[in-house]
Amino acid sequence: MLDKYNRTLNYLRISVTDRCNLRCTYCMPEGGVPMLSHSDILSFEEIFAVTQEAVNMGIDKVRITGGEPLVRKGILALIKMLANIKGIKDLSMTTNGIFLEEFAEDLKNSGLHRINISLDTLDPEKFKAITRGGDINKVKAGIIAAKKAGLSPIKINCVINNSKEDDDAKQVKQFCIDNNLDVRFIHQMNLKTGHFAIVEGGDGGDCERCNRLRLTADGKIKPCLFNNMEFDIRKMGIKEALQIAVNQKPECGSFNGINHFNNIGG
Ligand code: 5AD
Ligand code: SF4
Repeated sequence: MLDKYNRTLNYLRISVTDRCNLRCTYCMPEGGVPMLSHSDILSFEEIFAVTQEAVNMGIDKVRITGGEPLVRKGILALIKMLANIKGIKDLSMTTNGIFLEEFAEDLKNSGLHRINISLDTLDPEKFKAITRGGDINKVKAGIIAAKKAGLSPIKINCVINNSKEDDDAKQVKQFCIDNNLDVRFIHQMNLKTGHFAIVEGGDGGDCERCNRLRLTADGKIKPCLFNNMEFDIRKMGIKEALQIAVNQKPECGSFNGINHFNNIGG
């Protein structure tokens, strides 16, 4: 589908939960965020129906995000449902990797094509500090399991504050070279102030070329990460919400005063 600035929208990012087993400093505000209630969260049937309709309209690339998607109960069943939709050429997930060791093979068998894993440092203590308690060894075990399962290519998302020449970033880069992984550096963004940037080696942050729509865990279609605009599929109907989101997609992002990364999935 084309928006009014002639951009082809073919990429849907689906947040399946606002919950996470980590608390990354740049993602979750200090005091935590109010969590959605169970009835607000879309059912698998609703997520399937939105995805099917989006594919009918021209989406062929789907990414599952969170929060942390692997904490959503029954996630493998959802992957299977989505993998059965004809017309999806690329079905991927972004995860923090903590639960990946136990899930990797089942994810592959359920029809997931590939995976992105967040890793900002190789220093166990720094990792623990950034994620407010995470164990880097679990992520490393998850990476090995993902390789073994054939979830390929594996991409590492590395959020940086200054430049990719920082020691942490350089070490992550070397780790990726040694282990045959793709690395993408992502500048730390701020939704509220509208501080965003192009992902080096990625395809986000470039408004002129933006091909994305987002579905939040509570059923809002968002045409832009850096905009408050959202269209509720339960109130408007799926097709209408998708259509109006496409028609109203802003030419360029500005700021987003209502979402946090944990409920929009980056
Ligand atoms: N800036 C940039 N990326 C972020 N993410 C979460 N919060 C931010 C932020 N403030 C992204 C990271 C992480 C993924 C889960 O979400 O890429 O790997
Ligand atoms: Fe969880 Fe990812 Fe946010 Fe970290 S960045 S708290 S892993 S959702």
